[in-house]
Amino acid sequence: MRIAVGSDHRGFAVKAKVIALLKRLSHDVEDFGAHSGDAVDYPDVAAQVASRVSAGQADRGILICGTGLGMCIAANKLQGVRAATCHDDLTAEMSRRHNDVNVLCLSADMLGERLIDRMVEIWLATEFEGGRHARRVQKISELEAAPRVTPPPTS
Ligand code: RB5
Repeated sequence: MRIAVGSDHRGFAVKAKVIALLKRLSHDVEDFGAHSGDAVDYPDVAAQVASRVSAGQADRGILICGTGLGMCIAANKLQGVRAATCHDDLTAEMSRRHNDVNVLCLSADMLGERLIDRMVEIWLATEFEGGRHARRVQKISELEAAPRVTPPPTS
């Protein structure tokens, strides 16, 4: 898979380990920084990684910041990007099975190295289930295409 990866300064050390794992798993990795522990603004990196996914130039993205939250909020602003901050095996798995998440956001501060490795492997290996979940994901895309002031009727 072509995987775009990025972090801010808080995620810099974890990013190096994630990239090493992805390479061991024979993925094609693009690193969008941070390239040192010097402070950077997470939306700048999130925009680069998410735009690769949005444009179909990367199959998936992985973003790492202190909490995994800011990266997720920023990445979700780009068309076609479904980013989720995951905390454990189950959220990593379900984000793929039900939500077809294409950008995984991780907390560098709250997750251990072995857990992150396991989550990344699960997230990459888990297929989207489709079916009723495809209908729901399609509704997310429709919200993106035509934002409404009043919510659509529930069904
Ligand atoms: C940077 O200090 C911190 O705000 C960032 O890494 C992240 O946690 C934001 O959501």
